[in-house]
Amino acid sequence: MHPSDHWENVYRNKSFDAVSWYAPHLGESLRLIQELCPDANASIIDIGGGESTLVDDLLHRQYVDVSVLDISSTAIDFTRQRLGPLAQEVTWHVGDITQHDFGDQRFDLWHDRAVFHFLTDPAARQAYVELVRRSVRPGGYVLMATFGPDGPLQCSGLDVVRYDDQSLHHEFGEGFQMMGSQLAEHNTPMGTRQQFLYCWCRA
Ligand SMILES: C[S@@+](CC[C@H](N)C(=O)[O-])C[C@H]1O[C@@H](n2cnc3c(N)ncnc32)[C@H](O)[C@@H]1O
Repeated sequence: MHPSDHWENVYRNKSFDAVSWYAPHLGESLRLIQELCPDANASIIDIGGGESTLVDDLLHRQYVDVSVLDISSTAIDFTRQRLGPLAQEVTWHVGDITQHDFGDQRFDLWHDRAVFHFLTDPAARQAYVELVRRSVRPGGYVLMATFGPDGPLQCSGLDVVRYDDQSLHHEFGEGFQMMGSQLAEHNTPMGTRQQFLYCWCRA
């Protein structure tokens, strides 16, 4: 099945709070974004934002240049509806991140929670990293959250790649300067726990 069919199917059939990655707020992501980019004019993109409330929380903290990309138009439509008139403040992209082109758009911070780890094909990971290189301004930040070394082997019925900070940094290469990392536990709505790795670097 093509990834877009898989994700459309998920979002058409599951409530926003019934998916394993659901959290009412992406607290770790939000905290790190505010630390790395305190300037409300910073250009921030959430890759694979899905139906998460990160975009709402960024807007409520007065960030004025926020973009969201997802492969699922159902997820993007749901999030736009939830935001109501505020949705007009956001730049929306529907597309596959391994094939996308942001044109002239450049970002000060690239955020990805639970998308990169689905890229099991090295060529797809390479395409992703090349897009990061083209799209993040020199000196900008890349904040990634993947499953950690003790995280699950699958999510949403799909295989994932688990990372520690070294193996994740290796995917990005020497052009990126590692700044920090931390492990965090995510409590799923099903009552299980998943280990995430948060890792941030500078382009
Ligand atoms: C596990 S969910 C995480 C959603 C959100 N980031 C969060 O943390 O709540 C993965 C998200 O990535 C999107 N996605 C998966 N593969 C993608 C791809 N190749 N390009 C763009 N988005 C993708 C899915 O539609 C889904 O919304």
